[in-house]
Amino acid sequence: MLLTSYRLGNLTLPNRLVMAPMTRARAVDGKPTASTATYYAQRATAGLIVTEGVHPNAVGQAGPFMPGVHTAEQVEAWRVVTDAVHANGGRIFAQLMHGGRIGHPDVAGHHPVGPSAIAARTEVFTAAGVVPAPVPRALSSAEVQDQVRAFGDAARCAVEAGFDGVELHGANGYLIQQFLSSSANQRGDAYGGSIAGRIRFAVEAAQAAVDAIGADRVGIRLSPGGKVQDIVEEDVPALYGELLKALPDMAYIHLLATADDEVLMGLRKAWPTAFILNPGGQIGPHAGTREQGERWLANGADLISYGRAYIGNPDLVERFRLGLPLVDAGRETWFQTEAGYVDYPSYQH
Ligand SMILES: Cc1cc2nc3c(=O)[nH]c(=O)nc-3n(C[C@H](O)[C@H](O)[C@H](O)COP(=O)(O)O)c2cc1C
Repeated sequence: MLLTSYRLGNLTLPNRLVMAPMTRARAVDGKPTASTATYYAQRATAGLIVTEGVHPNAVGQAGPFMPGVHTAEQVEAWRVVTDAVHANGGRIFAQLMHGGRIGHPDVAGHHPVGPSAIAARTEVFTAAGVVPAPVPRALSSAEVQDQVRAFGDAARCAVEAGFDGVELHGANGYLIQQFLSSSANQRGDAYGGSIAGRIRFAVEAAQAAVDAIGADRVGIRLSPGGKVQDIVEEDVPALYGELLKALPDMAYIHLLATADDEVLMGLRKAWPTAFILNPGGQIGPHAGTREQGERWLANGADLISYGRAYIGNPDLVERFRLGLPLVDAGRETWFQTEAGYVDYPSYQH
C-alpha cells in the first residue's frame, strides 16, 4: 500500500510516503542555502516533502539557524529549493511554524509572545546554548489577529517561492498548540476558556492560509494529547473532535501518534479529506517503521510520514520497494553540523 499512488488536492503523489518536517538548523541569516536545495532534492522521490519548521514572521522564530518565509530575500532563497525539488520530480510543502512562547529575544530579536504570560517549564535553544524558556508577553486580542494574518501572508509568500502548499504547525507545543492548551492558554477573551475559545486561533490561522492560497494547498499538523514543551490538554477527544469540525475544508490533517489508537481512529473517521499519520510520534524511542505505516494504511490512514528514517536514507522509497537495509543516522548531526546533511548517499548496490 505504501508504494501506491494517491491524489492529494491537485497533486498526484507517486507513493504514500511523506517526508516529515524536521528542523535541521542550517539556515544562514534566516535563509535556506544551496545545501538545503540539495538535501530536499535528494529526497524528491517521497510522495510529499514537508520542510523543516519555517517561521511565518520574525517574532515566530523558535530557534537559531531556522529559516523564515516572510521577506523577499527568503522567498528568493526558497525558490532555489523548490526548483531543485521540482526538477527532480518531487512535491514540497513548507511547514509554517510559529514558536510562540518557545523562543528567545537573542534568537528572534523580539521578545517571544504567547496566549498568556506563562513560561514553558522547558529549555529553548539560543546560539550560545540552551537556556530556560522566558516568560512570553501575552498577545492582546488585536495582536492575536496579527498573528492569524501572518499565517495567511506567509502562505502567500510560500506559494510565491514555488511551494506546492503549506502545512500549519499545530503540534509539539508551538503557538497553535499553546492556544489549544489549558496550561499555556489562560485567556479570558474569545481565544481562551472553553474548547470553542481554545480552538479559535487554530481555525482562524487555517482559514487565513486557505483564503490566501486555496484549500487544496493547506494542511495542518496536530499532536493530540502530546505533552512536549510543557503542554497540558484536557479532554483530548472532545478538544480535537471540535477542532476537526471547525477547521475549514482543507487538503489534509497530519497527526502524530501522541494519543492512543482509539482516539486517532476516531479522528480519522471524523476527517473528510486526507489523513497523514506519523507513527514515530514526538521523537519516540524508535523511528517509525514500514510495518507501522502499512498497519496505519490498513486502519484508514491515507499517507504515512517518516522523519528520522529520511535523514540517513534519501532514497527511502526505493529502500522500502527493494527491502534494502536502512541507515540509522546519529543524533549528533541532527542540527547545525556540516556533516550528516547532504552526505548520506542512496543505497550503493
Ligand atoms: C531532528 C528532528 C527535527 C524535527 N523538527 C520538527 C519540525 O520542525 N516540525 C515538526 O512538526 N516536527 C519535527 N520533528 C518531529 C518529526 O517530524 C517526527 O514527528 C518525529 O521524528 C517522529 O517520527 P520518526 O519516528 O519517523 O522520526 C523533528 C524530529 C527530528 C528528529
